[in-house]
Amino acid sequence: LASIEFNLANIPEGQSVTITWRGLPVFVRHRTQAEIDEAKAVPLADLKDPETDEQRTKPGHEQWLIMIANCTHLGCVPIGQSGDFDGWFCPCHGSHYDSAGRIRKGPAPKNLVVPPYEFISDTLVQIG
Ligand code: FES
Repeated sequence: LASIEFNLANIPEGQSVTITWRGLPVFVRHRTQAEIDEAKAVPLADLKDPETDEQRTKPGHEQWLIMIANCTHLGCVPIGQSGDFDGWFCPCHGSHYDSAGRIRKGPAPKNLVVPPYEFISDTLVQIG
């Protein structure tokens, strides 16, 4: 299937699920306000792959972070709510991603990839 619809209603704040899209694992994370605020406060100059939090989320739905769950180093699946930046930690070679999925430390060259997606309603998202 080229695109999938996914219901967000059952993911509590602070939690995430991993779903599959086009054979790829995809993280769907319901961020807390503290995680959003932390991501927004990071100066772009501190980022290896500079992207604002707004570039990685949808307006009005910034609590939702949707990303392909493969480390941009060599493709391992990072561990959520882990690492030095309240985001993800990849145990394969030690890459740390922040609460917007941006690479902050370690060998990965790029941020976790945000796939194409749109909100159909406040609780229904179409990925792809
Ligand atoms: Fe994640 Fe190497 S695959 S750090």
